[in-house]
Amino acid sequence: MEEVWVAGAAMNRFGKMAVSGREAASQVSLEAIERSGLRPKDIGYTFVSNAFGVAERQAHVGPLVNSALGIPEVPSVTVESACSSSSAALHEAFVHVAGGFLDAALVVGVEKLSHLDTLAATSYFAMGADYAFESRNGATFPGLYATLATAHMHRYGTRAEELGAVAVKNHLNASHNPHAHFQKPISMETYLNSPPVSWPLRLYDCCPFSDGAAAVVVVNPKRFRSDLTEVPAAIRASARAGSIAALQDRNDLTTLPASTLAGERAFRMAGVDRSVVDLLEVHDCFTVAEVLALEDLGFYPPGEAARAGAEGETAVDGKLPVNPSGGLKAKGHPVSATGAAQVVEIFEQFNGRAAGRQVSDPEWALAHNVGATGGSCSVHLFQRV
Ligand SMILES: CC(C)(COP(=O)(O)OP(=O)(O)OC[C@H]1O[C@@H](n2cnc3c(N)ncnc32)[C@H](O)[C@@H]1OP(=O)(O)O)[C@@H](O)C(=O)NCCC(=O)NCCS
Repeated sequence: MEEVWVAGAAMNRFGKMAVSGREAASQVSLEAIERSGLRPKDIGYTFVSNAFGVAERQAHVGPLVNSALGIPEVPSVTVESACSSSSAALHEAFVHVAGGFLDAALVVGVEKLSHLDTLAATSYFAMGADYAFESRNGATFPGLYATLATAHMHRYGTRAEELGAVAVKNHLNASHNPHAHFQKPISMETYLNSPPVSWPLRLYDCCPFSDGAAAVVVVNPKRFRSDLTEVPAAIRASARAGSIAALQDRNDLTTLPASTLAGERAFRMAGVDRSVVDLLEVHDCFTVAEVLALEDLGFYPPGEAARAGAEGETAVDGKLPVNPSGGLKAKGHPVSATGAAQVVEIFEQFNGRAAGRQVSDPEWALAHNVGATGGSCSVHLFQRV
């Protein structure tokens, strides 16, 4: 296998975009390429994620991005894996470069849904669940994650204040992130007084509907090392896994089996132990999802991550910094841009550009990105070069 490095990464401010998805995708792509030291003509393939492009009446965004970059002849493909779309696209890019088929690839994820009302956006998102058994019967993602939260609370005694600690931490981290959707800290009182969305989840347990775009450039260092202008992030593992989509067919609702499997594969591939990891960007679409991620990935025994978070262990200056970017909860969750945006944060952290939320001298970082309620999952491990 060839080495694969992230050489450049960029994102826009998540929230409400004035521009179209294709324009945003093109802008962040150009920025990521310029930061890397490469030129657009060095890109051999573009992997695009845009799960809900049809909401803008636009599919097949790859050729539009490549044309805007001045490289219309470069091939492209759209990779869809619900909320884990752009980490799945990164995996495809990794496989191509590691296998020697490409020297440089662009990964770009984009979503624009802010022009839809709450019902329409919720209905679009619910298409990522099992339509026949879940969405058609009224299940939405807040409802499905509320089911997981209820099971976790029932088995482990997880308390609202412990889920609230995830929200308070991630809003605080996002207040230092100029790219975040929400940039104001919240108090525990604000969390506890926020209205229920789907019991036991409140407003501040949920990620928002966000527009946004994020791009990552991956290269084979043998070919491009002397061109690079940023501190690269070597991809030491790129692992994916799946599990039964519908919750009613699973044996246990206090875990996402795809996270466990993808995590085990990633650590095996990198040949390192969990103790090397200096920071994590995990999929916290709802506060309980951050708790599940930390337990499924093996950083805490089942039932212990929520308490550890409430005691400050997962703060930026804690013993295991989690979601310094603000996570999906507060940085925002433009579905197909999320996986790539996690890599942008890790790249910024490795380059020492995360003022206010900078983790001290990080060498290893993990990105964990879930599709829907865990029908698919990606885990990537990065090492600062
Ligand atoms: C929770 C939710 C229903 C709220 O949506 P909504 O009722 O349409 O909220 P609105 O857009 O009307 O916003 C009302 C206010 O709450 C704020 N807000 C909206 N969602 C928020 C969130 N998730 N967290 C914090 N604040 C939020 C808005 O900024 C707005 O504040 P303002 O009045 O100061 O401007 C929606 O954010 C949601 O469904 N989130 C989950 C999305 C999802 O399922 N993603 C897929 C995950 S797998």
